Amino acid sequence: MLIIQKNSYEEISTLAAKIIAQKIKNKPNLVLGLATGSTPLGLYKALINMHKNEGLDFSKITTFNLDEYIGLPQTHNQSYYYFMHENFFNHINISKRLINIPDGMSEKHDIACNQYEDKIRHAGGIDFQILGIGSNGHIAFNEPGSSLNSRTRVKPLSKKTIKDNSRFFNSIDEVPTKSITMGIGTIMSSQEILLIANGLNKAEIIKSCIEGPISAMCPASILQMHRKVTVLLDKDAASKLTLEIES
Ligand code: PGA
Repeated sequence: MLIIQKNSYEEISTLAAKIIAQKIKNKPNLVLGLATGSTPLGLYKALINMHKNEGLDFSKITTFNLDEYIGLPQTHNQSYYYFMHENFFNHINISKRLINIPDGMSEKHDIACNQYEDKIRHAGGIDFQILGIGSNGHIAFNEPGSSLNSRTRVKPLSKKTIKDNSRFFNSIDEVPTKSITMGIGTIMSSQEILLIANGLNKAEIIKSCIEGPISAMCPASILQMHRKVTVLLDKDAASKLTLEIES
């Protein structure tokens, strides 16, 4: 694992965007795994600026999002489909047919999950996966206790995640209780992974993820087994690490 610490959220967002821009320049048809949540918002903003000001070309990339709530239509302002279009896709020259987001409204979720795995395979696998981390250690919606070998499937959200995400809804009762999520095995099959985290509320879980034992109780800890992971942290998120880290 390469751990990099920067002073601020702005700095980690800018560096993450530079890393991804370089990947796209090296491979214009990059297969990029994308995350939602508040963490990658700064990164998406920086990539949009690179597109507008430097001509960064997204026209050939294929994207796969990590997860989606079950039961929210694409038009719901808290669906991840809506989030991605609002915060990223509508502002860049991505080809709409190369965007992939799990379908949280499908009639047959099991079939939709298998098809999502097939699509990733047919695209040649994910070259570069962006990840956030939940305050309980989840990656995508793989909550504590998830199988470390899992593939895309339906997963219930933990009480902690429902509480954390209720800040985006009018009330906690509106938060969906289930999701479709790439599995931990799906994420681990990516060629390269970039996990970003900021803020004091992530410090404890970042310590468990990087310095703790590998355990299904902290799904992100499995990243210790991946060949090529970079963890990009601001000062606060890195504040509980005992490791010496690069800045
Ligand atoms: P956040 O969520 O970026 O909103 O903190 C991260 C996650 O739950 O994976």
